[in-house]
Amino acid sequence: MGTVEGIRVSVASRWAKLIIKVSVKSKTSWQVRQLTDMALITNCTSQRIKEAASYLLAGNLVAFPTETVYGLGADACNLSAVSRIYKVKGRPTNHPLIVHLSSIDNLDKWTKDIPTYAVKLAREFWPGPMTLVLPKAKLAEDFVTGGQNNVGVRVPSHTVALLLLKEFEAQGGHGIAAPSANRFGKVSPTCADDVKAELSDYLKSDDLILDGGPSFVGVESTIIDCTNATPMILRPGAITATMINDLLGIQIEIFSKNNSDQIRAPGLLESHYSPKAKVYLSGTPSAGDGFIALSKFPTPSGAVRLISPTTNEEYARTLYQGLRLADSKKLSKVFVIEPAGNDIAVAVCDRLQKAAE
Ligand code: TXA
Ligand code: MG
Repeated sequence: MGTVEGIRVSVASRWAKLIIKVSVKSKTSWQVRQLTDMALITNCTSQRIKEAASYLLAGNLVAFPTETVYGLGADACNLSAVSRIYKVKGRPTNHPLIVHLSSIDNLDKWTKDIPTYAVKLAREFWPGPMTLVLPKAKLAEDFVTGGQNNVGVRVPSHTVALLLLKEFEAQGGHGIAAPSANRFGKVSPTCADDVKAELSDYLKSDDLILDGGPSFVGVESTIIDCTNATPMILRPGAITATMINDLLGIQIEIFSKNNSDQIRAPGLLESHYSPKAKVYLSGTPSAGDGFIALSKFPTPSGAVRLISPTTNEEYARTLYQGLRLADSKKLSKVFVIEPAGNDIAVAVCDRLQKAAE
């Protein structure tokens, strides 16, 4: 392996598809890691990202890193490519996809009637881990919105995601539809190897996985419904209610099953983020059961410690790795002590509660 333009890329073709390993730093552990199942390692950078963009425009799927989790991308204007996302994920087609854009400047192509508060949110928190649901404009077709008259849009902050989006748009694309790159209802991937483990049986030889190292937020974006006079959080994430309240000078509503009889975000009402192991939010583990908690909580005797984060941010960043580790260790039960606080702990608790359903 080597570096071109400060970005290192390796290409795997063992399963006749590619993992492109990209780094914008140097000498990180994941960057130099040898992946034994890679038959071909090559060096490239912006060139590989250009190729990935052209793969997308040709109707193939490209899984790519974002700061939250890895996404499974397709040209959001291409019906057959978007249909493949649903097929590869095993996801019902009425579950809308988030369209990823390189910049707030492209918002008007996809959305209309944007409330002033949404413009404020976008200007403050993009690029970043926030999705805005807005009334849809012409480009947002039913096949990407699940037939709804609104669309979720996000400008991610991960360098590789932004480079890919810019290149995709430079080549004539308008937006990349991308759900988390996992099978429906399962744990989202936070590194390229996890994408491969989840989806390699379903991807084709012309699909790609871009490897940009571990996602540094670790839980999915905050989704905010901006289709009404006041915003509502549909899914908590790293952009917290407090951050939104401080910016807008309001008390933002938070969606719950109890405050709406309408399914606002279909995927939110079902068991999600689930490992094979059963997740328990109370009780004490027996010997051989998994255990997840902040490091200040000692491991109960005989339990298998899966993660030991020191902060709520680290809890979010490592949670999905911990749940996946439970499965790779073939544990049947995982006991969790949820984090407390109004920060990203809210998102961690949300995912844990859904994993435990
Ligand atoms: O961090 C993220 O948001 C990641 C990365 C890849 O960007 N994406 C992601 O997408 O988590 P997905 O599809 O796995 O989860 C999005 C959730 C789904 O439950 C979907 O039903 C809901 O958001 N959703 C998407 N568009 C929506 C819309 N227009 N209205 C209501 N809910 C929507
Ligand atoms: Mg998902």
